[in-house]
Amino acid sequence: MNTRRFAVYLGLSLAVCFASIALYVLATEQSRRKKSKDNKESLVALNFPFLTDAHCIEFVMKSKVMFIMRGLPGSGKSVVAHQIKQVYGDKAVKCSADDFRVTDQGDYVWKAEEYEMTHMICQDKANQACLNATPVVIIDNTNIKKFLLFQYVSIAHDTGYHVVIVEPKTSWKLSISELTRRNQHNVTEERLRELLSEFDKVFALYYGWFLSGDSFKTLKDRMLKVLRDCCENIPSFQNSFVRDSSQEQDEPTSCSSETNLPSLPCLEHPRSHLHITTFFYKRGQTQRAREYVCMVEDALGSVATLSVVAWTITPRTLTARVKLTSQQLNLWGGMLSSVDSTGQGSGDSNTVLSLNESSSCALQTTNSSFIPASYKDLVIKPTVGDGDTAHVTLSCRSDITPVQGRYDLRDLITLELTNHSYEEYKVTDGIVRSYGDGQWSVYLNEPIYVDGLFTGFYGS
Ligand SMILES: *[C@@H]1O[C@H](CO)[C@@H](O)[C@H](O)[C@H]1NC(C)=O
Ligand SMILES: *[C@@H]1O[C@H](CO)[C@@H](O)[C@H](O)[C@H]1NC(C)=O
Ligand SMILES: *[C@@H]1O[C@H](CO)[C@@H](O)[C@H](O)[C@H]1NC(C)=O
Ligand SMILES: *[C@@H]1O[C@H](CO)[C@@H](O)[C@H](O)[C@H]1NC(C)=O
Repeated sequence: MNTRRFAVYLGLSLAVCFASIALYVLATEQSRRKKSKDNKESLVALNFPFLTDAHCIEFVMKSKVMFIMRGLPGSGKSVVAHQIKQVYGDKAVKCSADDFRVTDQGDYVWKAEEYEMTHMICQDKANQACLNATPVVIIDNTNIKKFLLFQYVSIAHDTGYHVVIVEPKTSWKLSISELTRRNQHNVTEERLRELLSEFDKVFALYYGWFLSGDSFKTLKDRMLKVLRDCCENIPSFQNSFVRDSSQEQDEPTSCSSETNLPSLPCLEHPRSHLHITTFFYKRGQTQRAREYVCMVEDALGSVATLSVVAWTITPRTLTARVKLTSQQLNLWGGMLSSVDSTGQGSGDSNTVLSLNESSSCALQTTNSSFIPASYKDLVIKPTVGDGDTAHVTLSCRSDITPVQGRYDLRDLITLELTNHSYEEYKVTDGIVRSYGDGQWSVYLNEPIYVDGLFTGFYGS
């Protein structure tokens, strides 16, 4: 009797024991899976070049960059903002209107009547950080309302900062139910729906790579060197510029006849950061802008090394010609190319594609692998087709807008393809060619590498 009861007890307890072990194993396995999923999720959510790429971090440390967070409450903005602060340490200042809504006891209190005031204090803090030239300024607000966002943009522009708008990459950033559950400040589902309806993409006026201060200096010095070289060694170069500058005070460049020293008036006080435009937002083309921004979103805030392969010198503009890699071409937003048939721009060069050389390149517009015969003796061969007008406008005549640099380069590429009776000279840095009418190109023996931060210019 007793043994039977004992056996039953034993059986029961063993069963319970096994069951709990099984449950335990199951539970740990589940939590392990959940943890690894959360880990993956948080790695994805923090996968920004300015947090993970050493080259990019170094660039940002040496520049002035304002990161403006943008997203609904609970979408993970503050996690990213916090991480930026972690990475840049005392080189970064983080500004959040929320910081000014905390009581002495450390409780967060949201009062409608203090809304404007907290934003003003936050802007003051940001402005002060920018005036102090803090390398990294982080704006950790929702910034859904564009007028609030643009107040920070204008602080950044007034103080010479690059702007990078950062939206969280969490999977739930637009899911109302998750946001309701996750947001720190009890924002109601109803309010979140309202905010979501106001949340629309912000487009920059243009996108591109914005050069570092070091790269700016390198380009300026190298350009001056080559101009000096040309002025000293090529009489027709000197003549064209001396003649032009006597007619026009504000040449993009000029050889002073006595000293043979060129000057670059525009580079002394550049109007904006030097940049390589990849996309220009034309009013009304919202759909195209939307597509472009969706395409390049992950690259915003990344840093690329770009190759300057030639200088282009015309009586109106002075540009550095950039050869893009295939990866860089992915960010090229179909900007005007020399074989563009849409005829935007100066409009006087519709005869572009008459020669065989150019017709064969027209077939290859989507890839810039075509190397024209006239480039065959050059050490570095520029490309023709997609991305061929990539450039930095270094200087332009005062009555001309910088966009002329693109048209001048496009026209020059056309001449490269059509004018085979160019005059050619050698200078220290490379080969100089005159294509007539004061249009010159200097092809470098080796590229000049410059670093650029890919982002938008959000001014008006
Ligand atoms: C959030 O809201 C609930 C109900 O409205 C309230 O009980 C709670 O105290 C609030 N929590 C905070 C942190 O404000
Ligand atoms: C150029 O094209 C024309 C016809 O379009 C052809 O007759 C001529 O042989 C071509 N020249 C060269 C050098 O290929
Ligand atoms: C462009 O290059 C890609 C990859 O190299 C290739 O698949 C594609 O066919 C090329 N397109 C043209 C028009 O040559
Ligand atoms: C070609 O370049 C040469 C040398 O600069 C110039 O004299 C000539 O006028 C140019 N021809 C055309 C058609 O532009």
